[in-house]
Amino acid sequence: MKSTGSARGKIILLGEHAVVYGVPALVAGIDREARASVQRASSTSILLAGQPLEANDALFEALSQASDLYGLGPLELELELDLPSGSGLGASAALGVATARALAHLADRLDEATIWRAAMAWERVFHKNPSGVDTTAAMRGGVLRYVRGEDPTPVRLGQSLEISVCVAGPPAPTAAMVESVARLRDRRPEAFTKNLAAIAQLVENAEPTLRSGDERSLGRLMDLNHMLLSSWMLSTEEIEAAREIARGAGAFGSKLTGSGGGGAVLAVGPSAPILDAWRAAGYVSFVAKIGT
Ligand code: MEV
Repeated sequence: MKSTGSARGKIILLGEHAVVYGVPALVAGIDREARASVQRASSTSILLAGQPLEANDALFEALSQASDLYGLGPLELELELDLPSGSGLGASAALGVATARALAHLADRLDEATIWRAAMAWERVFHKNPSGVDTTAAMRGGVLRYVRGEDPTPVRLGQSLEISVCVAGPPAPTAAMVESVARLRDRRPEAFTKNLAAIAQLVENAEPTLRSGDERSLGRLMDLNHMLLSSWMLSTEEIEAAREIARGAGAFGSKLTGSGGGGAVLAVGPSAPILDAWRAAGYVSFVAKIGT
């Protein structure tokens, strides 16, 4: 018999990378999800969007790490994804949580702590040193303030907020981007610590703007966060072009989201003209409604 699970993607509103070093991040679940369906089998196989994966695909290792916690033998896993993968939108964590939930049903062990550990074991295969922000957002949804190693705090929005999202260029592997930031820290620890403190301040200032729905201030804080992330070499020409287009269409602010080096850009402001402008320039884009 098949067991199923699902989980949401996410956008990091502020605080990515710094969250790896203990700075809080603001993250929101988005209404695009991953789904997993799993059953016992004589040998392990994985279908992603209906396509069988080669046995050397990293998803096999991720499945083995996650299913070991449940002591399950060979499995047939089917995965579906409604969000672009490798773009900073939490696809791998959403797949990990969806799979962990399906495994938990199959093993009839539904406690959240084991689901979390299984999803983190999955995530470590791709991200080596994940802060847990993506897995937490995939498990919990909503808008959260997340600090590594702590329970997240829900952030209650006065009203729901539309964040425009576009995929600006090919993805970069999260592990490589996290390692490149770690190298910068080793080379210039003092400057790095100052940046962390600045990002922590931006996150602190952003929380009340979310609660009150002050999109203009939130946009300014996103711009500032983006500048600090750029100083860690995480932006690209494509990301800057997408930000410029959003600004021209009336955005109050914008930033890369997730690991950077490519992938998604967020903009806050009037979503219809921003999306029209991005689509006219050929970007895949959509609106993420948060705080609903
Ligand atoms: C990736 O979505 C977010 C990063 O901060 C990595 C992490 O927190 O594990 C870049």
